[in-house]
Amino acid sequence: MRRVVCPGSFDPVTNGHLDIIGRASSLYDEVYVAIGFNRAKPSGLFTIDERIEMLHEVTEQYKNVKVEAFEGLLVNFCKERGIPAIIKGLRAVTDFDYELQMAQMNYGLTEVETLFVATNPLYSFLSSSLIKEVATYGGDVSGLVPETVLRRLTERLAQG
Ligand code: PNS
Repeated sequence: MRRVVCPGSFDPVTNGHLDIIGRASSLYDEVYVAIGFNRAKPSGLFTIDERIEMLHEVTEQYKNVKVEAFEGLLVNFCKERGIPAIIKGLRAVTDFDYELQMAQMNYGLTEVETLFVATNPLYSFLSSSLIKEVATYGGDVSGLVPETVLRRLTERLAQG
């Protein structure tokens, strides 16, 4: 069984994340979408349960995708589940420095590999933070996030 993990904060999941998850799903037997969180410092617009729910909804068509949250080191999550590789989307060179550091640290810790996938250029400018910022000020983010995320985002921001 070839397994890979696609980690992130997913606050919320965007079409850019979904593109990477879908591509990972066609390359691997099993894809774990792993939401990193820190109980001591809860942060974000959506709770972890809401992020899990949204990810379940938007990955429903991929039968080999599992969604889980994790606390602590990603390499421990991998070790406990027998996952030898991490998959990450690279949007631009600005992502590269930090991603390279994490990949090297993770490999140094447990020899887990990191594979980088070039983001679809349609989504190369996309990030969850930018989506939240634009939506907060009334900008149109439809087409950049899945329908269910757009609905929840609109509802959450309307609550103030
Ligand atoms: O979507 P993000 O915010 O870029 O996701 C970052 C995430 C959750 C993938 C990263 O912060 C992470 O792997 N956190 C888990 C803690 C960990 O293993 N830290 C050491 C990384 S070398």
